[in-house]
Amino acid sequence: MNHIRPISGSSTVSPTLVDPFGRQIDYLRVSVTDRCDFRCVYCMSEHMTFLPKPDLLTLEELDRICSAFVSRGVRKLRITGGEPLVRRDIMTLFRSLSRHLESGVLKELTLTTNGSQLTRFAKELASYGIKRINVSLDTLDPVKFKALTRWGDLSKVLEGIDAAQQAGIHVKINAVALKGDNEDEIASLMEWAHGRSMDLALIEVMPLGDVGTERVDQYLPLSLVRACLAEKYTLEDIDFRTGGPARYVQIKETGGRLGFITPLTHNFCEGCNRVRLTCTGTLYMCLGQEDAADLRGPMRASESNDLLYAAMDNAIARKPKGHDFVIDRRTKQPAVGRHMSHTGG
Ligand code: GTP
Ligand code: 5AD
Ligand code: SF4
Repeated sequence: MNHIRPISGSSTVSPTLVDPFGRQIDYLRVSVTDRCDFRCVYCMSEHMTFLPKPDLLTLEELDRICSAFVSRGVRKLRITGGEPLVRRDIMTLFRSLSRHLESGVLKELTLTTNGSQLTRFAKELASYGIKRINVSLDTLDPVKFKALTRWGDLSKVLEGIDAAQQAGIHVKINAVALKGDNEDEIASLMEWAHGRSMDLALIEVMPLGDVGTERVDQYLPLSLVRACLAEKYTLEDIDFRTGGPARYVQIKETGGRLGFITPLTHNFCEGCNRVRLTCTGTLYMCLGQEDAADLRGPMRASESNDLLYAAMDNAIARKPKGHDFVIDRRTKQPAVGRHMSHTGG
Protein backbone atom coordinates (compact mmCIF):
# COMPACT_ATOMS: atom_id res chain seq x y z
CA MET A 1 0.00 0.00 0.00
CA ASN A 2 1.22 3.43 -0.87
CA HIS A 3 -0.30 5.85 1.65
CA ILE A 4 -0.04 9.52 0.89
CA ARG A 5 1.47 11.61 3.63
CA PRO A 6 3.54 14.77 3.75
CA ILE A 7 7.32 14.54 3.85
CA SER A 8 8.94 17.22 5.99
CA GLY A 9 9.94 20.30 4.03
CA SER A 10 7.93 19.22 1.03
CA SER A 11 4.42 19.30 -0.30
CA THR A 12 2.27 16.17 -0.15
CA VAL A 13 4.07 13.33 -1.90
CA SER A 14 3.74 9.60 -1.61
CA PRO A 15 6.35 8.24 0.77
CA THR A 16 7.34 5.25 -1.31
CA LEU A 17 8.08 4.77 -4.97
CA VAL A 18 5.85 2.23 -6.70
CA ASP A 19 5.99 1.66 -10.44
CA PRO A 20 3.06 1.02 -12.82
CA PHE A 21 3.50 -2.73 -12.36
CA GLY A 22 3.14 -2.46 -8.58
CA ARG A 23 6.84 -3.01 -7.95
CA GLN A 24 8.17 -1.11 -4.96
CA ILE A 25 11.45 0.63 -5.74
CA ASP A 26 13.58 0.37 -2.62
CA TYR A 27 17.03 -0.21 -4.15
CA LEU A 28 19.09 2.58 -5.71
CA ARG A 29 22.34 1.88 -7.53
CA VAL A 30 24.53 4.92 -7.98
CA SER A 31 27.37 5.15 -10.45
CA VAL A 32 29.71 7.76 -9.00
CA THR A 33 32.12 7.75 -11.95
CA ASP A 34 32.23 6.25 -15.44
CA ARG A 35 36.01 5.87 -15.16
CA CYS A 36 37.83 2.74 -14.21
CA ASP A 37 41.40 1.58 -13.75
CA PHE A 38 40.60 -1.59 -15.76
CA ARG A 39 39.16 -2.10 -19.24
CA CYS A 40 37.35 -5.44 -18.94
CA VAL A 41 36.72 -6.87 -22.40
CA TYR A 42 32.97 -7.41 -21.86
CA CYS A 43 32.46 -4.01 -20.25
CA MET A 44 34.51 -1.45 -22.15
CA SER A 45 36.20 -1.02 -25.48
CA GLU A 46 39.94 -0.48 -25.42
CA HIS A 47 39.66 3.23 -26.13
CA MET A 48 36.88 4.79 -24.14
CA THR A 49 35.86 8.42 -24.08
CA PHE A 50 34.94 9.40 -20.55
CA LEU A 51 32.74 12.24 -19.36
CA PRO A 52 34.43 15.57 -18.77
CA LYS A 53 34.92 15.95 -15.01
CA PRO A 54 32.91 19.21 -14.73
CA ASP A 55 29.81 17.28 -15.90
CA LEU A 56 29.84 15.12 -12.79
CA LEU A 57 27.55 15.73 -9.87
CA THR A 58 29.52 16.87 -6.86
CA LEU A 59 29.70 14.50 -3.90
CA GLU A 60 27.30 16.83 -2.04
CA GLU A 61 24.82 16.59 -4.92
CA LEU A 62 25.14 12.81 -5.02
CA ASP A 63 24.43 12.77 -1.30
CA ARG A 64 21.41 15.00 -1.79
CA ILE A 65 19.84 12.80 -4.47
CA CYS A 66 20.61 9.59 -2.54
CA SER A 67 19.09 11.10 0.58
CA ALA A 68 15.99 12.14 -1.37
CA PHE A 69 15.59 8.52 -2.45
CA VAL A 70 16.07 7.36 1.11
CA SER A 71 13.26 9.66 2.23
CA ARG A 72 11.11 8.12 -0.51
CA GLY A 73 11.56 4.54 0.65
CA VAL A 74 14.91 3.40 -0.69
CA ARG A 75 16.39 0.96 1.82
CA LYS A 76 19.42 -0.31 -0.07
CA LEU A 77 22.06 1.91 -1.66
CA ARG A 78 24.79 0.43 -3.80
CA ILE A 79 27.66 2.63 -4.96
CA THR A 80 29.05 1.49 -8.31
CA GLY A 81 30.96 2.86 -11.29
CA GLY A 82 33.03 2.46 -13.43
CA GLU A 83 35.18 1.79 -10.43
CA PRO A 84 33.71 3.75 -7.52
CA LEU A 85 36.91 3.76 -5.49
CA VAL A 86 38.82 5.73 -8.16
CA ARG A 87 36.59 8.76 -7.67
CA ARG A 88 38.50 11.34 -5.70
CA ASP A 89 37.36 11.81 -2.07
CA ILE A 90 34.73 9.12 -2.45
CA MET A 91 35.07 8.24 1.25
CA THR A 92 33.38 11.57 2.00
CA LEU A 93 30.23 10.26 0.31
CA PHE A 94 30.30 6.97 2.22
CA ARG A 95 30.84 8.87 5.46
CA SER A 96 27.94 11.23 4.87
CA LEU A 97 25.57 8.50 3.66
CA SER A 98 26.36 6.40 6.72
CA ARG A 99 24.13 8.77 8.75
CA HIS A 100 21.13 7.03 7.16
CA LEU A 101 22.41 3.69 8.47
CA GLU A 102 22.88 5.19 11.92
CA SER A 103 19.34 6.55 11.91
CA GLY A 104 18.11 3.06 10.99
CA VAL A 105 16.24 4.24 7.89
CA LEU A 106 18.70 2.76 5.41
CA LYS A 107 19.16 -1.00 5.76
CA GLU A 108 22.24 -1.42 3.60
CA LEU A 109 24.98 0.78 2.20
CA THR A 110 27.31 -1.17 -0.03
CA LEU A 111 29.42 -1.11 -3.18
CA THR A 112 30.44 -3.14 -6.19
CA THR A 113 34.14 -2.78 -6.89
CA ASN A 114 36.90 -4.34 -8.94
CA GLY A 115 38.92 -4.61 -5.72
CA SER A 116 42.00 -2.79 -6.95
CA GLN A 117 41.80 -0.04 -4.32
CA LEU A 118 40.42 -2.04 -1.41
CA THR A 119 43.73 -2.35 0.41
CA ARG A 120 43.63 1.41 0.82
CA PHE A 121 39.95 1.79 1.72
CA ALA A 122 38.66 -1.41 3.39
CA LYS A 123 39.09 -0.28 7.00
CA GLU A 124 37.50 3.08 6.39
CA LEU A 125 34.56 1.51 4.55
CA ALA A 126 33.99 -0.83 7.49
CA SER A 127 34.01 2.14 9.84
CA TYR A 128 31.11 3.69 7.87
CA GLY A 129 28.93 0.63 8.35
CA ILE A 130 29.68 -1.23 5.12
CA LYS A 131 29.16 -4.87 6.02
CA ARG A 132 29.13 -6.61 2.67
CA ILE A 133 30.68 -5.78 -0.69
CA ASN A 134 30.73 -7.35 -4.13
CA VAL A 135 34.07 -7.74 -5.85
CA SER A 136 34.16 -8.46 -9.58
CA LEU A 137 36.69 -11.16 -10.35
CA ASP A 138 36.45 -13.44 -13.37
CA THR A 139 39.63 -15.50 -13.13
CA LEU A 140 42.40 -16.46 -10.72
CA ASP A 141 44.95 -16.89 -13.47
CA PRO A 142 47.17 -13.76 -13.47
CA VAL A 143 47.86 -13.92 -17.21
CA LYS A 144 44.20 -14.39 -18.07
CA PHE A 145 43.31 -11.66 -15.60
CA LYS A 146 45.61 -9.23 -17.35
CA ALA A 147 44.07 -10.18 -20.71
CA LEU A 148 40.46 -9.91 -19.52
CA THR A 149 40.91 -6.59 -17.73
CA ARG A 150 43.45 -5.36 -20.31
CA TRP A 151 45.30 -3.48 -17.53
CA GLY A 152 44.62 -5.17 -14.20
CA ASP A 153 46.98 -6.69 -11.65
CA LEU A 154 45.46 -9.75 -10.00
CA SER A 155 47.71 -9.60 -6.94
CA LYS A 156 46.35 -6.13 -6.03
CA VAL A 157 42.78 -7.43 -6.18
CA LEU A 158 43.63 -10.46 -4.05
CA GLU A 159 45.33 -8.21 -1.49
CA GLY A 160 42.25 -6.00 -1.54
CA ILE A 161 39.97 -8.96 -0.82
CA ASP A 162 42.22 -9.93 2.09
CA ALA A 163 42.04 -6.39 3.44
CA ALA A 164 38.25 -6.35 3.22
CA GLN A 165 37.93 -9.66 5.03
CA GLN A 166 40.39 -8.54 7.70
CA ALA A 167 38.28 -5.43 8.20
CA GLY A 168 35.30 -7.73 8.88
CA ILE A 169 33.51 -7.06 5.58
CA HIS A 170 31.75 -9.99 3.90
CA VAL A 171 32.84 -10.35 0.31
CA LYS A 172 30.78 -11.76 -2.53
CA ILE A 173 32.63 -12.51 -5.74
CA ASN A 174 30.89 -11.64 -9.03
CA ALA A 175 32.15 -13.40 -12.14
CA VAL A 176 30.84 -12.86 -15.63
CA ALA A 177 30.66 -16.28 -17.33
CA LEU A 178 32.64 -15.96 -20.55
CA LYS A 179 32.69 -18.54 -23.31
CA GLY A 180 36.21 -19.86 -23.83
CA ASP A 181 37.74 -17.40 -21.33
CA ASN A 182 36.77 -18.63 -17.87
CA GLU A 183 34.29 -21.42 -18.52
CA ASP A 184 36.77 -24.13 -17.57
CA GLU A 185 37.69 -22.24 -14.41
CA ILE A 186 34.28 -21.73 -12.86
CA ALA A 187 34.49 -24.78 -10.59
CA SER A 188 37.92 -23.78 -9.29
CA LEU A 189 36.81 -20.17 -8.79
CA MET A 190 33.89 -21.48 -6.78
CA GLU A 191 36.07 -23.81 -4.67
CA TRP A 192 38.42 -20.92 -3.98
CA ALA A 193 35.60 -18.51 -3.01
CA HIS A 194 33.86 -21.06 -0.81
CA GLY A 195 37.16 -22.01 0.80
CA ARG A 196 37.42 -18.40 1.93
CA SER A 197 33.79 -18.17 3.12
CA MET A 198 32.72 -16.04 0.16
CA ASP A 199 29.62 -16.51 -1.98
CA LEU A 200 30.15 -16.57 -5.73
CA ALA A 201 27.62 -15.11 -8.17
CA LEU A 202 27.87 -15.89 -11.86
CA ILE A 203 26.53 -13.37 -14.37
CA GLU A 204 25.42 -13.80 -17.97
CA VAL A 205 27.05 -11.25 -20.23
CA MET A 206 24.60 -8.58 -21.43
CA PRO A 207 24.68 -6.73 -24.77
CA LEU A 208 25.46 -3.28 -23.34
CA GLY A 209 27.56 -0.90 -25.42
CA ASP A 210 29.99 -1.66 -28.21
CA VAL A 211 33.00 -3.49 -26.79
CA GLY A 212 34.63 -4.29 -30.12
CA THR A 213 33.79 -8.02 -29.91
CA GLU A 214 30.75 -10.02 -30.99
CA ARG A 215 28.66 -10.67 -27.87
CA VAL A 216 27.73 -14.06 -29.20
CA ASP A 217 31.40 -15.06 -28.93
CA GLN A 218 31.42 -14.08 -25.22
CA TYR A 219 28.00 -15.31 -24.16
CA LEU A 220 27.86 -18.46 -22.06
CA PRO A 221 24.34 -19.39 -20.91
CA LEU A 222 24.31 -20.19 -17.20
CA SER A 223 21.92 -23.07 -17.84
CA LEU A 224 24.92 -24.82 -19.44
CA VAL A 225 27.25 -23.91 -16.59
CA ARG A 226 24.75 -25.21 -14.09
CA ALA A 227 24.39 -28.49 -15.95
CA CYS A 228 28.19 -28.92 -16.05
CA LEU A 229 28.57 -28.16 -12.35
CA ALA A 230 25.77 -30.59 -11.52
CA GLU A 231 27.90 -33.42 -12.95
CA LYS A 232 30.47 -32.88 -10.22
CA TYR A 233 28.57 -31.18 -7.36
CA THR A 234 25.25 -31.42 -5.58
CA LEU A 235 23.30 -28.18 -6.13
CA GLU A 236 20.42 -27.53 -3.74
CA ASP A 237 18.03 -24.64 -4.49
CA ILE A 238 17.73 -22.35 -1.48
CA ASP A 239 15.57 -19.32 -0.61
CA PHE A 240 18.54 -17.11 0.32
CA ARG A 241 18.05 -13.59 -1.13
CA THR A 242 20.04 -10.38 -0.89
CA GLY A 243 17.65 -8.01 -2.66
CA GLY A 244 19.61 -8.47 -5.91
CA PRO A 245 18.65 -10.60 -8.91
CA ALA A 246 20.77 -13.67 -8.07
CA ARG A 247 19.07 -16.98 -7.36
CA TYR A 248 21.15 -19.17 -5.12
CA VAL A 249 22.00 -22.80 -4.66
CA GLN A 250 23.92 -24.38 -1.84
CA ILE A 251 26.79 -26.61 -2.92
CA LYS A 252 26.75 -29.66 -0.69
CA GLU A 253 30.42 -30.53 -1.19
CA THR A 254 31.80 -27.07 -0.31
CA GLY A 255 29.06 -25.84 2.01
CA GLY A 256 29.10 -22.52 0.12
CA ARG A 257 26.52 -20.58 -1.88
CA LEU A 258 26.51 -20.10 -5.63
CA GLY A 259 24.31 -17.45 -7.26
CA PHE A 260 23.08 -17.28 -10.84
CA ILE A 261 22.26 -13.92 -12.42
CA THR A 262 20.48 -14.85 -15.62
CA PRO A 263 19.15 -11.84 -17.55
CA LEU A 264 19.24 -13.88 -20.77
CA THR A 265 18.18 -17.42 -19.91
CA HIS A 266 15.76 -16.56 -17.10
CA ASN A 267 14.43 -13.04 -17.02
CA PHE A 268 14.01 -11.72 -13.48
CA CYS A 269 12.55 -8.30 -14.33
CA GLU A 270 9.18 -9.22 -12.81
CA GLY A 271 10.66 -8.75 -9.34
CA CYS A 272 12.68 -5.64 -10.21
CA ASN A 273 13.06 -3.34 -7.22
CA ARG A 274 15.73 -0.93 -8.44
CA VAL A 275 16.65 2.13 -10.49
CA ARG A 276 20.05 3.51 -11.41
CA LEU A 277 21.52 6.97 -11.07
CA THR A 278 24.52 7.97 -13.19
CA CYS A 279 27.28 10.31 -12.08
CA THR A 280 25.69 13.12 -14.11
CA GLY A 281 22.35 12.79 -12.36
CA THR A 282 20.50 10.81 -15.02
CA LEU A 283 18.12 8.19 -13.70
CA TYR A 284 17.77 5.00 -15.72
CA MET A 285 14.67 3.10 -14.82
CA CYS A 286 15.97 -0.09 -16.45
CA LEU A 287 19.49 -1.32 -17.19
CA GLY A 288 18.33 -2.60 -20.57
CA GLN A 289 16.25 0.33 -21.90
CA GLU A 290 17.12 3.78 -23.26
CA ASP A 291 14.53 5.84 -21.42
CA ALA A 292 15.99 8.05 -18.71
CA ALA A 293 15.10 11.06 -16.58
CA ASP A 294 17.25 14.03 -15.69
CA LEU A 295 17.36 14.65 -11.94
CA ARG A 296 20.23 17.11 -11.98
CA GLY A 297 18.16 19.96 -13.46
CA PRO A 298 15.26 19.69 -10.99
CA MET A 299 17.67 19.29 -8.09
CA ARG A 300 19.73 22.35 -9.04
CA ALA A 301 16.64 24.46 -9.78
CA SER A 302 15.55 24.69 -6.18
CA GLU A 303 16.89 24.38 -2.66
CA SER A 304 13.86 22.42 -1.62
CA ASN A 305 13.40 18.87 -2.86
CA ASP A 306 9.91 19.41 -4.30
CA LEU A 307 11.02 19.51 -7.95
CA LEU A 308 13.35 16.60 -7.40
CA TYR A 309 10.59 14.47 -5.84
CA ALA A 310 8.29 15.34 -8.75
CA ALA A 311 10.96 14.30 -11.26
CA MET A 312 11.48 11.04 -9.35
CA ASP A 313 7.74 10.33 -9.41
CA ASN A 314 7.57 11.07 -13.12
CA ALA A 315 10.46 8.74 -13.80
CA ILE A 316 9.13 5.84 -11.73
CA ALA A 317 5.78 6.20 -13.48
CA ARG A 318 7.63 5.37 -16.73
CA LYS A 319 9.56 2.36 -15.44
CA PRO A 320 9.31 -0.27 -18.18
CA LYS A 321 8.36 -3.85 -17.59
CA GLY A 322 11.82 -5.15 -18.42
CA HIS A 323 14.68 -5.43 -20.86
CA ASP A 324 14.70 -6.91 -24.37
CA PHE A 325 18.18 -8.47 -24.37
CA VAL A 326 18.94 -10.83 -27.23
CA ILE A 327 22.30 -12.35 -28.04
CA ASP A 328 22.44 -14.24 -31.32
CA ARG A 329 24.36 -14.21 -34.61
CA ARG A 330 21.73 -12.09 -36.36
CA THR A 331 21.58 -9.30 -33.76
CA LYS A 332 24.59 -7.07 -34.32
CA GLN A 333 23.54 -3.98 -32.36
CA PRO A 334 23.85 -3.86 -28.57
CA ALA A 335 20.47 -3.72 -26.80
CA VAL A 336 21.46 -0.30 -25.51
CA GLY A 337 24.33 1.87 -26.72
CA ARG A 338 25.71 2.79 -23.31
CA HIS A 339 28.26 0.67 -21.49
CA MET A 340 27.70 -0.91 -18.10
CA SER A 341 30.26 1.50 -16.63
CA HIS A 342 27.95 4.38 -17.56
CA THR A 343 24.78 2.99 -15.99
CA GLY A 344 26.53 1.28 -13.11
CA GLY A 345 25.94 -2.47 -13.27
P1 GTP B 1 23.55 -8.29 -4.06
O1 GTP B 1 23.13 -7.23 -3.14
O2 GTP B 1 24.79 -8.97 -3.60
O3 GTP B 1 22.47 -9.23 -4.45
O4 GTP B 1 24.01 -7.54 -5.36
P2 GTP B 1 23.39 -7.25 -6.75
O5 GTP B 1 23.34 -8.50 -7.55
O6 GTP B 1 22.15 -6.43 -6.66
O7 GTP B 1 24.51 -6.28 -7.26
P3 GTP B 1 25.78 -6.52 -8.08
O8 GTP B 1 26.44 -5.21 -8.28
O9 GTP B 1 26.60 -7.61 -7.52
O10 GTP B 1 25.12 -6.98 -9.44
C1 GTP B 1 25.67 -8.01 -10.14
C2 GTP B 1 25.30 -7.90 -11.56
O11 GTP B 1 23.97 -8.32 -11.74
C3 GTP B 1 25.29 -6.52 -12.14
O12 GTP B 1 26.56 -6.10 -12.48
C4 GTP B 1 24.50 -6.76 -13.38
O13 GTP B 1 25.32 -7.44 -14.28
C5 GTP B 1 23.46 -7.71 -12.85
N1 GTP B 1 22.27 -6.97 -12.47
C6 GTP B 1 22.02 -6.35 -11.31
N2 GTP B 1 20.81 -5.76 -11.33
C7 GTP B 1 20.30 -6.02 -12.55
C8 GTP B 1 19.09 -5.67 -13.21
O14 GTP B 1 18.22 -4.99 -12.68
N3 GTP B 1 18.91 -6.10 -14.46
C9 GTP B 1 19.83 -6.84 -15.09
N4 GTP B 1 19.56 -7.23 -16.31
N5 GTP B 1 21.00 -7.19 -14.52
C10 GTP B 1 21.23 -6.78 -13.28
N1 5AD C 1 27.27 -7.97 -18.90
C1 5AD C 1 27.25 -8.50 -17.65
N2 5AD C 1 27.94 -8.03 -16.62
C2 5AD C 1 28.74 -7.00 -16.85
N3 5AD C 1 29.55 -6.32 -16.03
C3 5AD C 1 30.11 -5.31 -16.74
N4 5AD C 1 29.70 -5.34 -18.02
C4 5AD C 1 28.84 -6.37 -18.12
C5 5AD C 1 28.07 -6.91 -19.17
N5 5AD C 1 28.09 -6.40 -20.40
C6 5AD C 1 29.69 -6.62 -14.60
C7 5AD C 1 31.04 -6.59 -14.00
C8 5AD C 1 30.74 -6.31 -12.55
C9 5AD C 1 29.50 -5.52 -12.60
C10 5AD C 1 29.64 -4.12 -12.18
O1 5AD C 1 29.03 -5.60 -13.92
O2 5AD C 1 31.76 -7.75 -14.05
O3 5AD C 1 30.52 -7.48 -11.81
FE1 SF4 D 1 35.80 -1.55 -14.78
FE2 SF4 D 1 34.00 -3.04 -13.66
FE3 SF4 D 1 33.79 -2.42 -16.21
FE4 SF4 D 1 35.69 -4.05 -15.45
S1 SF4 D 1 33.51 -4.43 -15.26
S2 SF4 D 1 35.95 -2.31 -16.83
S3 SF4 D 1 36.20 -3.35 -13.47
S4 SF4 D 1 33.64 -1.03 -14.54
